[in-house]
Amino acid sequence: MKIGEKYYRSIWFEDSEPGIISVIDQEKLPFFFEIKKLQSVDDIYAAIKDMTVRGAPAIGVAGAYGMYLSTLEIGTHTNIREHLKNAAEYLISARPTAVNLGWAVNKVLDKLSDKTDRQSVSESALSAAKEVCENEVENCRKIGINGLSLIEKISNNKEGEPVNILTHCNAGWLACVDYGTALAPVFAAQEKGIPVHVWIDETRPRNQGARLTTYELANCGIPYSLVTDNTGGHLMQHGLVDIVIVGSDRTTRRGDVANKIGTYLKALAAFDNSIPFYVAQPSSSIDFSISDGLSEIQIEERDPEEISMVSGFAEDKIMSVRICPENSRSVNYGFDITPARLISGLITEKGICKASEKDISKMFLEKFN
Ligand code: MRU
Repeated sequence: MKIGEKYYRSIWFEDSEPGIISVIDQEKLPFFFEIKKLQSVDDIYAAIKDMTVRGAPAIGVAGAYGMYLSTLEIGTHTNIREHLKNAAEYLISARPTAVNLGWAVNKVLDKLSDKTDRQSVSESALSAAKEVCENEVENCRKIGINGLSLIEKISNNKEGEPVNILTHCNAGWLACVDYGTALAPVFAAQEKGIPVHVWIDETRPRNQGARLTTYELANCGIPYSLVTDNTGGHLMQHGLVDIVIVGSDRTTRRGDVANKIGTYLKALAAFDNSIPFYVAQPSSSIDFSISDGLSEIQIEERDPEEISMVSGFAEDKIMSVRICPENSRSVNYGFDITPARLISGLITEKGICKASEKDISKMFLEKFN
């Protein structure tokens, strides 16, 4: 994505800086645009955990590069197999819900199984991580093209009136290295000159919508309105939403979706108002090994302080303020499960399919053996 005149990804490696993975610090946006240089497995783990890097595809790519950095920490007496296995487990433990993290880390690990010396391990890890990254970017580009057809159809019916799209959290290029998942079709529509307007849920408690989705859309000149997380139902009842598009952190083989907390309530409201509710995700976000989202997906619980404190920008710096009595108890579930029956369809790199095992297995036949 271009920021000003420069093209950026949210995470990248440069041959001129071996041993360094660069990321846009998502903790600082939209107030400061800062690049962080990650140089060790610990750095990558911390960046994923504290959400310097966030969004399912982006944390997968970060994990893949983390495996590369782990190979640079191999010493003369290191047991290479054990070292890599420990690094993989450590990286995957940074965040539990998004399947992309484990998928990407294991993808790199698998490519190293027959390598025995540090140099070949390291070279293979780097090339595997680059491959994971490029595939994710390409898949998100395709999601944009496939999802565009939905927006185009609504636009034709509205005879040029802007298509009102509601989205939750940030599922744009920052969350996905480039293009995005839920926002990829929105960027594609803008590029094609289709008028759109996006309702952005602020996405408490971390405010990814308020901070990041606004930043991405403003950067491209896409009209948007920021709303509180509770507003979606009201908008839908009044005919102000044409389609809901969200991302996914883990979609099961039968189409249940784990996504940012609050997604389920939007799906319920959309269902009650007969508004199409689509989930956009690359196949790396589909966990083909599980069926039932409610019982089989681990929901991340984060620091309760993210609820009791709100961070924002004042006096030229980012600061936090408390919004409840001191020592109030709070509980911070990061994600919820939207059952397949509430989902109109899944937008993937291969096309759009119903959120059902039958249709997902037709689209990803190779994963169902
Ligand atoms: O906790 P986050 O900000 O990493 O959660 C991200 C989301 O829930 C996104 O919607 C998701 O990763 C899907 S696509 C980027």
